[in-house]
Amino acid sequence: MKKLRVGILGLGRAGAFIKSLYLNDAVFVATCETQAEMNYGLKELYGEDFGFYTDFEEFLKHPGGLDVVILGNFFHEHAHYAIRCLEEGIHVISECLSNATMAEGVALVRAAEKSKAMYIYGENYPYYPTYIEADKVYKGGTLGKVLFAESEYNHPLLLPLAEAEKMTTYYLRKFEKHWRNYLPRTYYIQHSLAPLMFVTGSTPKTVTAFPSYNDGMEMGDQLTGPNVKDRAAIVLTQNDDHSVFRVTGMASFGAEDISFRFCCDKGQIENIRGMDDHIMLRYDAGCVPGKEPKYFYKPEITPEEAELVKKAGGGHEGADFRTIREALKYIREGKQYPMDVYFATTVSSVAIQAHRSVIAGGQPFEIPDFHDEEVRKKYENDHDTPFWGSDGSAPTMPCSSH
Ligand SMILES: NC(=O)c1ccc[n+]([C@@H]2O[C@H](COP(=O)([O-])OP(=O)(O)OC[C@H]3O[C@@H](n4cnc5c(N)ncnc54)[C@H](O)[C@@H]3O)[C@@H](O)[C@H]2O)c1
Repeated sequence: MKKLRVGILGLGRAGAFIKSLYLNDAVFVATCETQAEMNYGLKELYGEDFGFYTDFEEFLKHPGGLDVVILGNFFHEHAHYAIRCLEEGIHVISECLSNATMAEGVALVRAAEKSKAMYIYGENYPYYPTYIEADKVYKGGTLGKVLFAESEYNHPLLLPLAEAEKMTTYYLRKFEKHWRNYLPRTYYIQHSLAPLMFVTGSTPKTVTAFPSYNDGMEMGDQLTGPNVKDRAAIVLTQNDDHSVFRVTGMASFGAEDISFRFCCDKGQIENIRGMDDHIMLRYDAGCVPGKEPKYFYKPEITPEEAELVKKAGGGHEGADFRTIREALKYIREGKQYPMDVYFATTVSSVAIQAHRSVIAGGQPFEIPDFHDEEVRKKYENDHDTPFWGSDGSAPTMPCSSH
Protein backbone atom coordinates (compact mmCIF):
# COMPACT_ATOMS: atom_id res chain seq x y z
CA MET A 1 0.00 0.00 0.00
CA LYS A 2 1.32 3.46 -0.95
CA LYS A 3 2.10 5.47 2.14
CA LEU A 4 0.14 8.72 2.38
CA ARG A 5 2.41 11.78 2.59
CA VAL A 6 1.18 14.06 5.35
CA GLY A 7 2.06 17.64 6.24
CA ILE A 8 1.09 19.47 9.44
CA LEU A 9 0.34 23.19 9.75
CA GLY A 10 1.15 24.37 13.30
CA LEU A 11 3.29 22.09 15.46
CA GLY A 12 1.52 22.52 18.82
CA ARG A 13 -1.28 20.15 19.67
CA ALA A 14 -1.22 18.63 16.15
CA GLY A 15 2.17 17.06 16.95
CA ALA A 16 0.15 14.54 19.00
CA PHE A 17 -1.01 12.95 15.70
CA ILE A 18 2.44 12.08 14.34
CA LYS A 19 2.82 8.61 15.90
CA SER A 20 -0.68 7.72 14.71
CA LEU A 21 0.33 8.55 11.13
CA TYR A 22 3.13 5.97 11.20
CA LEU A 23 0.76 3.36 12.70
CA ASN A 24 -1.64 3.91 9.78
CA ASP A 25 0.60 3.63 6.70
CA ALA A 26 1.36 7.31 6.43
CA VAL A 27 4.53 9.39 6.72
CA PHE A 28 5.09 12.85 8.14
CA VAL A 29 7.00 14.68 5.38
CA ALA A 30 6.75 18.41 6.14
CA THR A 31 5.51 21.03 8.54
CA CYS A 32 4.71 24.71 8.38
CA GLU A 33 5.27 26.53 11.66
CA THR A 34 5.81 30.27 12.06
CA GLN A 35 7.94 29.78 15.19
CA ALA A 36 11.18 29.01 13.34
CA GLU A 37 12.88 27.92 16.59
CA MET A 38 10.74 24.77 16.50
CA ASN A 39 12.87 23.54 13.57
CA TYR A 40 15.09 21.46 15.77
CA GLY A 41 16.04 17.79 15.29
CA LEU A 42 13.18 17.14 12.85
CA LYS A 43 15.34 15.75 10.02
CA GLU A 44 16.92 13.27 12.47
CA LEU A 45 13.43 12.08 13.41
CA TYR A 46 11.63 12.17 10.05
CA GLY A 47 14.38 11.88 7.41
CA GLU A 48 16.72 14.05 5.34
CA ASP A 49 13.95 15.05 2.93
CA PHE A 50 11.74 16.40 5.74
CA GLY A 51 10.65 19.98 5.02
CA PHE A 52 10.29 22.78 7.56
CA TYR A 53 8.55 25.92 6.27
CA THR A 54 7.39 29.16 7.80
CA ASP A 55 5.43 30.09 4.66
CA PHE A 56 2.26 28.12 3.91
CA GLU A 57 2.39 28.51 0.11
CA GLU A 58 5.98 27.15 0.06
CA PHE A 59 4.90 24.28 2.31
CA LEU A 60 2.17 23.32 -0.21
CA LYS A 61 4.89 23.01 -2.89
CA HIS A 62 7.02 20.59 -0.82
CA PRO A 63 9.07 18.37 -3.23
CA GLY A 64 7.40 14.97 -3.70
CA GLY A 65 4.01 16.56 -2.88
CA LEU A 66 1.55 16.29 -0.01
CA ASP A 67 -1.46 13.94 -0.05
CA VAL A 68 -2.97 15.19 3.21
CA VAL A 69 -2.58 18.29 5.39
CA ILE A 70 -3.57 18.33 9.07
CA LEU A 71 -4.43 21.82 10.32
CA GLY A 72 -3.14 22.51 13.83
CA ASN A 73 -2.84 26.27 13.55
CA PHE A 74 -4.81 28.84 15.57
CA PHE A 75 -8.35 27.69 16.39
CA HIS A 76 -10.11 30.52 14.52
CA GLU A 77 -7.96 30.52 11.37
CA HIS A 78 -8.52 27.10 9.79
CA ALA A 79 -10.90 27.99 6.95
CA HIS A 80 -8.47 29.91 4.74
CA TYR A 81 -5.86 27.12 4.89
CA ALA A 82 -8.46 24.37 4.39
CA ILE A 83 -9.70 26.16 1.26
CA ARG A 84 -6.15 26.50 -0.12
CA CYS A 85 -5.54 22.75 0.38
CA LEU A 86 -8.83 21.90 -1.35
CA GLU A 87 -7.93 24.20 -4.25
CA GLU A 88 -4.61 22.37 -4.63
CA GLY A 89 -6.34 18.96 -4.56
CA ILE A 90 -4.84 18.07 -1.16
CA HIS A 91 -7.05 16.28 1.39
CA VAL A 92 -7.44 18.27 4.57
CA ILE A 93 -8.11 17.30 8.19
CA SER A 94 -9.26 20.23 10.33
CA GLU A 95 -10.36 19.96 13.94
CA CYS A 96 -12.36 22.06 16.40
CA LEU A 97 -13.61 25.12 14.52
CA SER A 98 -13.86 24.67 10.74
CA ASN A 99 -14.82 28.33 10.29
CA ALA A 100 -14.84 31.28 12.68
CA THR A 101 -17.37 33.31 10.65
CA MET A 102 -20.52 32.40 8.77
CA ALA A 103 -19.00 33.79 5.54
CA GLU A 104 -15.99 31.47 5.91
CA GLY A 105 -18.40 28.55 6.33
CA VAL A 106 -20.03 29.40 3.00
CA ALA A 107 -16.65 29.73 1.26
CA LEU A 108 -15.44 26.44 2.76
CA VAL A 109 -18.49 24.47 1.58
CA ARG A 110 -18.20 25.94 -1.91
CA ALA A 111 -14.48 25.03 -2.06
CA ALA A 112 -15.15 21.46 -0.86
CA GLU A 113 -17.88 20.98 -3.48
CA LYS A 114 -15.49 22.10 -6.24
CA SER A 115 -12.49 20.07 -5.10
CA LYS A 116 -11.54 16.51 -5.97
CA ALA A 117 -9.91 16.31 -2.55
CA MET A 118 -11.76 15.46 0.65
CA TYR A 119 -12.56 17.72 3.59
CA ILE A 120 -12.41 15.76 6.85
CA TYR A 121 -13.64 17.24 10.11
CA GLY A 122 -11.06 15.84 12.52
CA GLU A 123 -13.21 16.06 15.64
CA ASN A 124 -11.92 13.43 18.07
CA TYR A 125 -14.54 13.18 20.84
CA PRO A 126 -16.89 10.75 19.05
CA TYR A 127 -13.96 8.30 19.30
CA TYR A 128 -13.79 8.19 23.09
CA PRO A 129 -14.60 4.60 24.22
CA THR A 130 -17.83 5.68 25.98
CA TYR A 131 -19.09 7.57 22.92
CA ILE A 132 -18.16 4.59 20.69
CA GLU A 133 -20.32 2.44 22.98
CA ALA A 134 -23.21 4.93 22.88
CA ASP A 135 -22.94 4.98 19.08
CA LYS A 136 -23.01 1.17 18.89
CA VAL A 137 -26.01 0.87 21.22
CA TYR A 138 -27.96 3.74 19.61
CA LYS A 139 -27.38 2.48 16.06
CA GLY A 140 -28.27 -1.03 17.26
CA GLY A 141 -31.81 0.35 17.54
CA THR A 142 -32.98 -1.04 20.90
CA LEU A 143 -33.24 2.43 22.46
CA GLY A 144 -35.56 3.68 19.72
CA LYS A 145 -35.40 7.26 18.50
CA VAL A 146 -33.60 10.09 20.29
CA LEU A 147 -35.89 12.67 21.89
CA PHE A 148 -33.36 14.59 23.98
CA ALA A 149 -29.58 14.41 24.36
CA GLU A 150 -27.16 16.41 26.44
CA SER A 151 -23.41 16.72 26.75
CA GLU A 152 -21.00 18.75 28.82
CA TYR A 153 -17.38 19.49 28.02
CA ASN A 154 -16.40 20.89 31.39
CA HIS A 155 -12.73 21.76 31.62
CA PRO A 156 -11.99 24.21 34.45
CA LEU A 157 -8.27 24.72 34.93
CA LEU A 158 -8.37 27.03 37.90
CA LEU A 159 -5.47 28.17 40.05
CA PRO A 160 -5.10 31.00 42.55
CA LEU A 161 -4.49 34.13 40.43
CA ALA A 162 -0.88 34.65 41.49
CA GLU A 163 0.05 31.11 40.44
CA ALA A 164 -2.02 31.13 37.24
CA GLU A 165 -0.28 34.27 36.10
CA LYS A 166 3.08 32.49 36.24
CA MET A 167 1.92 29.67 33.95
CA THR A 168 2.95 29.77 30.29
CA THR A 169 -0.48 28.37 29.45
CA TYR A 170 -2.00 31.50 30.93
CA TYR A 171 -2.33 33.04 27.51
CA LEU A 172 -2.90 36.63 28.57
CA ARG A 173 0.73 36.76 29.71
CA LYS A 174 2.06 35.17 26.54
CA PHE A 175 0.11 36.90 23.81
CA GLU A 176 -2.74 39.21 24.74
CA LYS A 177 -4.53 38.74 21.41
CA HIS A 178 -4.37 34.92 21.49
CA TRP A 179 -7.68 33.26 20.56
CA ARG A 180 -8.04 31.65 23.98
CA ASN A 181 -8.28 35.11 25.55
CA TYR A 182 -11.25 35.97 23.33
CA LEU A 183 -12.96 32.59 23.22
CA PRO A 184 -16.71 32.99 23.79
CA ARG A 185 -18.00 30.00 25.74
CA THR A 186 -20.14 28.80 22.84
CA TYR A 187 -17.29 28.67 20.28
CA TYR A 188 -15.47 25.61 21.68
CA ILE A 189 -18.66 23.63 21.28
CA GLN A 190 -17.40 20.78 19.10
CA HIS A 191 -16.46 18.36 21.91
CA SER A 192 -20.01 18.39 23.29
CA LEU A 193 -22.12 18.95 20.17
CA ALA A 194 -20.32 16.87 17.52
CA PRO A 195 -20.63 13.51 19.35
CA LEU A 196 -24.39 14.02 19.79
CA MET A 197 -24.80 14.75 16.07
CA PHE A 198 -22.48 11.87 15.12
CA VAL A 199 -24.33 9.28 17.21
CA THR A 200 -27.91 10.33 16.42
CA GLY A 201 -27.63 11.83 12.92
CA SER A 202 -29.76 14.76 14.17
CA THR A 203 -28.93 18.21 12.74
CA PRO A 204 -29.56 21.46 14.68
CA LYS A 205 -31.94 23.91 12.98
CA THR A 206 -32.44 26.57 15.69
CA VAL A 207 -30.29 27.60 18.66
CA THR A 208 -30.75 29.58 21.82
CA ALA A 209 -28.25 30.12 24.66
CA PHE A 210 -27.77 31.72 28.07
CA PRO A 211 -24.45 32.48 29.77
CA SER A 212 -23.42 31.86 33.35
CA TYR A 213 -21.41 35.02 34.11
CA ASN A 214 -18.96 35.43 36.98
CA ASP A 215 -16.94 38.59 37.43
CA GLY A 216 -14.42 39.01 40.25
CA MET A 217 -13.00 35.48 40.09
CA GLU A 218 -10.30 34.85 42.63
CA MET A 219 -8.93 32.05 40.48
CA GLY A 220 -7.22 32.27 37.09
CA ASP A 221 -8.72 30.12 34.38
CA GLN A 222 -5.73 28.93 32.38
CA LEU A 223 -7.69 27.75 29.38
CA THR A 224 -9.57 30.95 28.70
CA GLY A 225 -8.15 34.28 29.72
CA PRO A 226 -9.93 36.74 31.96
CA ASN A 227 -11.54 38.71 29.10
CA VAL A 228 -14.54 36.42 28.79
CA LYS A 229 -15.82 35.97 32.36
CA ASP A 230 -18.73 33.83 31.21
CA ARG A 231 -17.97 30.52 32.90
CA ALA A 232 -20.33 28.53 30.70
CA ALA A 233 -23.00 28.93 28.08
CA ILE A 234 -26.01 26.65 28.23
CA VAL A 235 -26.89 26.02 24.61
CA LEU A 236 -30.16 24.46 23.40
CA THR A 237 -30.75 23.28 19.85
CA GLN A 238 -33.99 22.21 18.22
CA ASN A 239 -33.11 19.63 15.58
CA ASP A 240 -34.39 18.57 12.17
CA ASP A 241 -35.96 15.39 13.64
CA HIS A 242 -37.74 17.38 16.42
CA SER A 243 -35.28 16.23 19.08
CA VAL A 244 -33.56 18.71 21.43
CA PHE A 245 -29.89 18.92 22.48
CA ARG A 246 -28.47 20.71 25.50
CA VAL A 247 -24.71 21.34 25.41
CA THR A 248 -22.25 23.63 27.17
CA GLY A 249 -19.45 24.51 24.79
CA MET A 250 -16.31 24.73 26.90
CA ALA A 251 -17.62 25.16 30.43
CA SER A 252 -15.56 26.03 33.45
CA PHE A 253 -17.76 25.26 36.43
CA GLY A 254 -18.02 22.64 39.14
CA ALA A 255 -15.62 19.75 38.60
CA GLU A 256 -13.94 18.46 35.45
CA ASP A 257 -16.16 16.16 33.38
CA ILE A 258 -16.95 14.96 29.89
CA SER A 259 -20.49 13.73 30.30
CA PHE A 260 -23.41 12.79 28.09
CA ARG A 261 -26.92 11.34 28.10
CA PHE A 262 -29.08 10.16 25.20
CA CYS A 263 -32.78 9.94 26.12
CA CYS A 264 -34.74 7.94 23.60
CA ASP A 265 -38.31 6.68 23.37
CA LYS A 266 -37.43 3.22 24.79
CA GLY A 267 -34.56 3.96 27.16
CA GLN A 268 -31.40 5.93 27.72
CA ILE A 269 -27.65 5.64 27.69
CA GLU A 270 -25.30 7.94 29.62
CA ASN A 271 -21.89 8.02 31.21
CA ILE A 272 -21.67 8.68 34.89
CA ARG A 273 -20.35 12.08 36.00
CA GLY A 274 -17.16 11.67 37.96
CA MET A 275 -16.83 8.09 36.62
CA ASP A 276 -17.08 9.15 33.04
CA ASP A 277 -15.46 6.02 31.60
CA HIS A 278 -18.47 4.04 32.83
CA ILE A 279 -21.76 3.61 31.02
CA MET A 280 -25.24 3.39 32.49
CA LEU A 281 -27.70 1.86 30.04
CA ARG A 282 -31.33 1.69 31.12
CA TYR A 283 -34.43 0.56 29.34
CA ASP A 284 -37.99 1.29 30.19
CA ALA A 285 -38.70 -2.35 30.90
CA GLY A 286 -42.23 -1.99 29.54
CA CYS A 287 -40.84 -0.94 26.16
CA VAL A 288 -38.18 -3.54 25.42
CA PRO A 289 -39.37 -7.00 26.46
CA GLY A 290 -36.49 -9.32 27.26
CA LYS A 291 -34.02 -6.56 28.07
CA GLU A 292 -32.55 -6.19 31.54
CA PRO A 293 -33.85 -2.86 32.87
CA LYS A 294 -30.38 -1.61 33.93
CA TYR A 295 -26.72 -2.16 33.02
CA PHE A 296 -23.65 -0.46 34.50
CA TYR A 297 -20.33 -1.24 32.83
CA LYS A 298 -17.02 -0.01 31.44
CA PRO A 299 -16.77 -0.47 27.65
CA GLU A 300 -14.00 -2.89 26.65
CA ILE A 301 -11.45 -2.29 23.94
CA THR A 302 -9.55 -5.21 22.41
CA PRO A 303 -5.95 -5.86 23.57
CA GLU A 304 -4.75 -5.18 19.98
CA GLU A 305 -6.46 -1.78 19.97
CA ALA A 306 -5.12 -1.00 23.46
CA GLU A 307 -1.59 -1.74 22.22
CA LEU A 308 -1.98 0.56 19.19
CA VAL A 309 -3.42 3.35 21.35
CA LYS A 310 -0.44 2.98 23.71
CA LYS A 311 2.04 3.14 20.81
CA ALA A 312 0.25 6.24 19.49
CA GLY A 313 0.73 8.02 22.83
CA GLY A 314 -2.76 7.40 24.20
CA GLY A 315 -4.04 10.96 23.65
CA HIS A 316 -7.67 11.57 24.68
CA GLU A 317 -8.19 7.89 25.60
CA GLY A 318 -7.16 6.81 22.11
CA ALA A 319 -9.54 9.21 20.37
CA ASP A 320 -6.63 10.98 18.63
CA PHE A 321 -5.35 7.67 17.21
CA ARG A 322 -8.83 6.65 16.04
CA THR A 323 -9.40 10.04 14.41
CA ILE A 324 -6.32 9.56 12.23
CA ARG A 325 -7.08 5.88 11.54
CA GLU A 326 -10.65 6.65 10.41
CA ALA A 327 -9.73 9.77 8.41
CA LEU A 328 -6.95 7.99 6.48
CA LYS A 329 -9.18 4.96 5.88
CA TYR A 330 -11.90 7.11 4.29
CA ILE A 331 -9.33 9.03 2.24
CA ARG A 332 -7.86 5.77 0.88
CA GLU A 333 -11.29 4.33 0.11
CA GLY A 334 -12.48 7.63 -1.41
CA LYS A 335 -15.64 7.41 0.71
CA GLN A 336 -17.52 10.44 2.12
CA TYR A 337 -16.38 10.87 5.74
CA PRO A 338 -19.36 10.93 8.17
CA MET A 339 -18.14 14.23 9.66
CA ASP A 340 -17.89 16.07 6.35
CA VAL A 341 -17.87 19.76 5.47
CA TYR A 342 -21.64 20.17 6.07
CA PHE A 343 -21.32 18.53 9.47
CA ALA A 344 -18.33 20.75 10.37
CA THR A 345 -19.94 24.00 9.25
CA THR A 346 -23.15 23.12 11.11
CA VAL A 347 -21.14 22.72 14.33
CA SER A 348 -19.48 26.09 13.65
CA SER A 349 -22.83 27.74 12.86
CA VAL A 350 -24.13 26.60 16.26
CA ALA A 351 -20.99 28.04 17.90
CA ILE A 352 -21.45 31.42 16.21
CA GLN A 353 -25.25 31.71 16.32
CA ALA A 354 -25.37 30.56 19.96
CA HIS A 355 -23.02 33.40 20.89
CA ARG A 356 -25.30 35.82 19.06
CA SER A 357 -28.16 34.40 21.10
CA VAL A 358 -26.17 34.96 24.32
CA ILE A 359 -25.62 38.60 23.35
CA ALA A 360 -29.30 38.98 22.38
CA GLY A 361 -30.57 37.74 25.76
CA GLY A 362 -31.41 34.21 24.63
CA GLN A 363 -33.20 35.02 21.38
CA PRO A 364 -33.38 32.04 18.97
CA PHE A 365 -31.16 32.06 15.84
CA GLU A 366 -31.42 29.79 12.79
CA ILE A 367 -28.81 27.21 11.83
CA PRO A 368 -28.65 27.44 8.06
CA ASP A 369 -28.42 24.44 5.73
CA PHE A 370 -25.30 25.10 3.67
CA HIS A 371 -26.25 22.40 1.15
CA ASP A 372 -28.52 25.08 -0.33
CA GLU A 373 -26.82 27.80 -2.42
CA GLU A 374 -29.77 30.17 -1.90
CA VAL A 375 -29.32 29.87 1.89
CA ARG A 376 -25.55 30.39 1.57
CA LYS A 377 -26.06 33.72 -0.20
CA LYS A 378 -27.65 35.15 2.94
CA TYR A 379 -24.42 34.48 4.90
CA GLU A 380 -21.66 34.94 2.31
CA ASN A 381 -20.84 38.44 3.59
CA ASP A 382 -21.31 37.74 7.30
CA HIS A 383 -17.76 38.30 8.58
CA ASP A 384 -18.52 39.08 12.25
CA THR A 385 -15.92 37.68 14.63
CA PRO A 386 -14.99 37.99 18.33
CA PHE A 387 -11.29 37.21 17.57
CA TRP A 388 -8.20 39.16 16.65
CA GLY A 389 -6.68 37.96 13.37
CA SER A 390 -2.99 37.12 12.92
CA ASP A 391 -3.00 39.94 10.34
CA GLY A 392 -3.94 42.41 13.12
CA SER A 393 -7.64 42.64 12.19
CA ALA A 394 -9.78 43.55 15.20
CA PRO A 395 -12.81 41.72 16.63
CA THR A 396 -16.18 42.99 15.39
CA MET A 397 -18.30 41.54 18.20
CA PRO A 398 -17.80 41.14 21.95
CA CYS A 399 -16.42 37.88 23.33
CA SER A 400 -18.42 38.08 26.56
CA SER A 401 -22.10 38.41 27.47
CA HIS A 402 -21.14 41.53 29.53
N1 LIG B 1 -9.09 18.14 19.74
C1 LIG B 1 -8.49 18.45 20.84
O1 LIG B 1 -8.63 17.74 21.81
C2 LIG B 1 -7.61 19.69 20.90
C3 LIG B 1 -6.85 19.98 22.04
C4 LIG B 1 -6.07 21.15 22.04
C5 LIG B 1 -6.05 21.97 20.92
N2 LIG B 1 -6.81 21.64 19.82
C6 LIG B 1 -6.78 22.50 18.61
O2 LIG B 1 -5.48 22.55 18.06
C7 LIG B 1 -5.26 23.81 17.43
C8 LIG B 1 -3.96 24.44 17.95
O3 LIG B 1 -4.06 24.68 19.33
P1 LIG B 1 -2.78 24.68 20.29
O4 LIG B 1 -3.26 24.28 21.63
O5 LIG B 1 -1.66 23.91 19.65
O6 LIG B 1 -2.37 26.19 20.47
P2 LIG B 1 -2.08 27.40 19.51
O7 LIG B 1 -3.31 27.73 18.77
O8 LIG B 1 -1.50 28.43 20.37
O9 LIG B 1 -0.94 26.86 18.53
C9 LIG B 1 -1.01 26.86 17.17
C10 LIG B 1 0.38 26.60 16.56
O10 LIG B 1 0.29 26.89 15.18
C11 LIG B 1 1.29 27.83 14.79
N3 LIG B 1 0.70 28.66 13.74
C12 LIG B 1 -0.38 29.45 13.84
N4 LIG B 1 -0.66 30.02 12.64
C13 LIG B 1 0.29 29.60 11.78
C14 LIG B 1 0.54 29.82 10.39
N5 LIG B 1 -0.24 30.63 9.66
N6 LIG B 1 1.58 29.21 9.81
C15 LIG B 1 2.37 28.38 10.54
N7 LIG B 1 2.19 28.12 11.86
C16 LIG B 1 1.15 28.72 12.47
C17 LIG B 1 1.64 28.57 16.07
O11 LIG B 1 2.94 29.13 16.01
C18 LIG B 1 1.48 27.49 17.13
O12 LIG B 1 2.66 26.73 17.27
C19 LIG B 1 -6.51 24.64 17.69
O13 LIG B 1 -7.36 24.57 16.58
C20 LIG B 1 -7.13 23.94 18.89
O14 LIG B 1 -8.51 24.13 18.95
C21 LIG B 1 -7.55 20.52 19.80
